[in-house]
Amino acid sequence: MSDIERGVEILRRGGLVAFPTETVYGLGADASNAEAVRKIFAAKGRPSGHPLIVHLARASMVREWADLDPAQAEVVDRLAEAFWPGPLTIVAPRSDLVAAETVGGRPTVGLRVPDHPVSLALLEAFEGGIAAPSANRFGRVSPTTAEHVSSDLGAEVDLIIDGGPTRIGVESTIVELDGTRVALLRPGGVSLRQLSAVLDGEVGVSGVVDDRDGEARASGMLRSHYAPLARVELVAADELAERLSAPPGSDRLGVIAPFAVEHRPSWRLPLDPEGYARSLYRSLREADEQGVDRLLIVAPDDGDLRDAVLDRLTKAAAPRPASSDAEPA
Ligand code: TXA
Ligand code: MG
Repeated sequence: MSDIERGVEILRRGGLVAFPTETVYGLGADASNAEAVRKIFAAKGRPSGHPLIVHLARASMVREWADLDPAQAEVVDRLAEAFWPGPLTIVAPRSDLVAAETVGGRPTVGLRVPDHPVSLALLEAFEGGIAAPSANRFGRVSPTTAEHVSSDLGAEVDLIIDGGPTRIGVESTIVELDGTRVALLRPGGVSLRQLSAVLDGEVGVSGVVDDRDGEARASGMLRSHYAPLARVELVAADELAERLSAPPGSDRLGVIAPFAVEHRPSWRLPLDPEGYARSLYRSLREADEQGVDRLLIVAPDDGDLRDAVLDRLTKAAAPRPASSDAEPA
């Protein structure tokens, strides 16, 4: 039996299947099955109010999973045509097919058609919606390899489908249909520039609004999130040398930068934000494995993925709540 066939069987009986997408690995369950979806929250240690993204095999399935008025349908069509399959999640009023547990009781659902042969094959064969958050423990760094998933959640998952390292390396962009606007809730694989190019002046949308400073509607919007165990500090490229020449404390210091650094341990990531994004989460995990207490991180160059990378780095560098990651900052 193939991994896809086993995966479908497990999903049908309400189990958990971790699978690769083009962004990060997801922890999947049948989005219409409340019991199955509860297992996702339990496995991740995720508070039940945090809504999950529902993954679909194709854009035409939005009609079943969302309840759209004609104006909203036009916006979704436009976005889907430009960006699906791909790293864009669209938050829209939900239909009855979505289990209330999937969306933490909200009236909306985040929908996305992922661009990965394994996710698409699984979705095609399952013929339903797969609810899937990133397959990591709550508040930790998203997994970009099957090994990351098994080290975080191995015992809790019925099947991990290995599709190799993910291509994009940071999560999808999340937008919400909001009256005549489209609000950006989380920057990701699709940039604001790309979104605006598709929406501006068209389909009755007054613009793409950066709504990240609003209410913490998405858990990705919590200030301290996407964090490694090490404390993180963002450093400008031209300040790094000086920071490293300071007298060593007792902390084990690590560096992540888009250039070579005379320091051990350090991780040299590509200068372009696409390459940088692809390797960032792996480097953060490796720094943890090597017992780094404090990470100095230099951001990548300009480009479409820079916003997403800076967002994750800023959240990783934010003050951590003393007791848990569960409370919005
Ligand atoms: O790339 C991705 O988006 C990956 C892959 C697996 O698809 N998934 C992912 O899921 O990052 P997760 O659960 O780790 O992050 C999804 C974010 C959360 O911050 C959640 O709060 C937000 O999306 N979200 C989901 N549904 C929402 C809704 N109805 N309203 C507002 N925010 C929503
Ligand atoms: Mg996540």
